Amino acid sequence: MQFLEKDVNALIEKYLIPIDKIWQPSDFLPNSESDNFFEDVKEIRELSKELPYDFWVVLVGDMITEEALPTYESWLMDVEGVNQMDGQNGWAKWVRHWTAEENRHGDVLNKYLYLSGRVNMKEIEKTTQYLIADGFDIGTARDPYKNFVYTSFQELATYVSHNRVAKIAKDKGSLQLGKMCKIISGDEMRHHHAYAEFVDRIFKVDPNQMMLAFQYMMKQKIAMPAHFLRESGAKISTAFDEFSNTAQRIGVYTSLDYVEILEKLIIRWEIDRMTNLNEEAEKARDYLMALPSRMMRLADRIKIPENSFQFKWVEPARLK
Ligand SMILES: [Fe+2]
Ligand SMILES: [Fe+2]
Repeated sequence: MQFLEKDVNALIEKYLIPIDKIWQPSDFLPNSESDNFFEDVKEIRELSKELPYDFWVVLVGDMITEEALPTYESWLMDVEGVNQMDGQNGWAKWVRHWTAEENRHGDVLNKYLYLSGRVNMKEIEKTTQYLIADGFDIGTARDPYKNFVYTSFQELATYVSHNRVAKIAKDKGSLQLGKMCKIISGDEMRHHHAYAEFVDRIFKVDPNQMMLAFQYMMKQKIAMPAHFLRESGAKISTAFDEFSNTAQRIGVYTSLDYVEILEKLIIRWEIDRMTNLNEEAEKARDYLMALPSRMMRLADRIKIPENSFQFKWVEPARLK
């Protein structure tokens, strides 16, 4: 981490966008200072009626995942080599700047959902509060290598899901919502490239340990950041599987996507070409190279329930 830290300022410049230049939630929402505000909101509410039940569930789940940002920031601040007490620590600066960019995602989605009139905001707010209070455990401990594998994977996963939501919204005529989710997915892709470069640089100087960390994370599977999701009155983690089934059912994020992300990481880090490894790391490399086809066979067998699961977040009666 100290080795990479000297380049963090350059990496911030390369991968994050200056605050005065980047988009803000208000760019994609009706302007409440304008006389057209009520007309614009009415249009959103009309267009929203065209979007199906499962779509709203997924958008809500995605928004809640984004709104649990305090969990992710505090987790990353605790990683070895990150030190917010040291004003000069480049990694703490990276985490703050990354958080500041990410914060716009939950913000804009939350406001749009509120205006849509399609969802039960109070139930959603309770789930968000629960999720932040419950925290998460992504199995990386404080290890930077494992954490950067996780973030490389996860940023790409959020790219996929926001991008697919954007496409559904656009196809159903909610163009503004489509644009919004598209631009969020662009942020996620940019962040993915940053974390993937961190890993790339570590591979150059410490290939054995980096390979073992990659294998460790894939062996235990990448836990989604919202894996503790619950609805009001329910036990921890009880809503996650149905949220995930819903995302699979409408093709927003599937087990096939999981395997494809793994394949992309293997290609990005040129795992197949790594030869300067010790015996243990060579075994890890071979394990990783064989993993996508093994997982693909499993993904084929997974059956997703056909019927929508009834969440408190979205009441079907309101969708008629
Ligand atoms: Fe995000
Ligand atoms: Fe992200």
